[in-house]
This record gives sequence, C-alpha cells and structure tokens, in this order.
Amino acid sequence: MDQNSPADGTSREDNDLPVRVGKMEDIKNSRRMNATVNGREIVVFYHKGKLHAMDKHCYHAGGPLHLGEIEDINGQACIICPWHKYKITLATGEGLYQAIDPKLPSALPKWRSKGVKQRIHTVTVKNGDIYVTLSDPSISCESDYYADKYKKPVHSSLNK
Ligand code: FES
Repeated sequence: MDQNSPADGTSREDNDLPVRVGKMEDIKNSRRMNATVNGREIVVFYHKGKLHAMDKHCYHAGGPLHLGEIEDINGQACIICPWHKYKITLATGEGLYQAIDPKLPSALPKWRSKGVKQRIHTVTVKNGDIYVTLSDPSISCESDYYADKYKKPVHSSLNK
C-alpha cells in the first residue's frame, strides 16, 4: 500500500471511480436509497427531479439521515435529521441554524450556515443506472467521523 492509500485497503483510484448504486426507475418511486460505495454508507435522495448523495450518518452524532424528512428552508431543500432535528442542505451539505442578532433586539431570527458539515458525493446517471463517485477524501468533512466509524469492509476479488 502506498502512502496515499486509505487505511481500509481501497486505493485513491478506487474512490475516484463511479459505483453503480441502483436504477432511476426505482428511486423515482422510493425517493431515496441506501448504498455502500467502497465501504462508505451513502444515502441518495431524489427530490424535485434532482439526485443528491451524501454520507448516511449525520455529522452531529451519527443519526440516520435516510429516515429524515425533507423540508424547504430559506429556499434550500434540507434533510432534517430524525435524532436532533439538525438541518442539512441536500445540494451542499451545509448545516443551517437560526440566529438573532443581539444588537437588534426586535430582529426576527434568520437562517444562517455553519458551513459544509455533511460530505456530498457526485451522482451521475447513465442508461437509467445511478452511479455515485465519492468526493475527494483529502478535504476533511465533519461527517467523516461517523462514515469511518460505520465503514464496511471492502472485499477485493484479487484476494481470492
Ligand atoms: S445526530 Fe443528527 S441531529 Fe443529532
């Protein structure tokens, strides 16, 4: 294994490759699907005609995002984590929260971003099949902690 390879035995090149996770005709009915891509647990959402893939376990405490409701918040589609109701944008993985400017006592709460907290992955469709390509692991993301904790072993056919 070279120095740039992840500790789980997959190579950087493996993570770069799109992995087939399901069919468009299925997700159009189910609206979401779970997948494991190179050992990493992913959820793919189909919302308003668009596909979004992100780490399945919430960055806060590992909650099951595939069981959350999708809500429109401040013009952005968000998954609401079922455990503690954190709001995460489907498109960017940003955590959203409401805040009041204390210097303006009469101000109403406004939605703000905590920054990208949940790792988003690339989804493509070819011949009716859905593919997920994992995003660049060299840029860390808070959801990596639970993604690594729940990582599944990757079996290589070369070991047989
Ligand atoms: S685990 Fe998701 S909000 Fe706490």
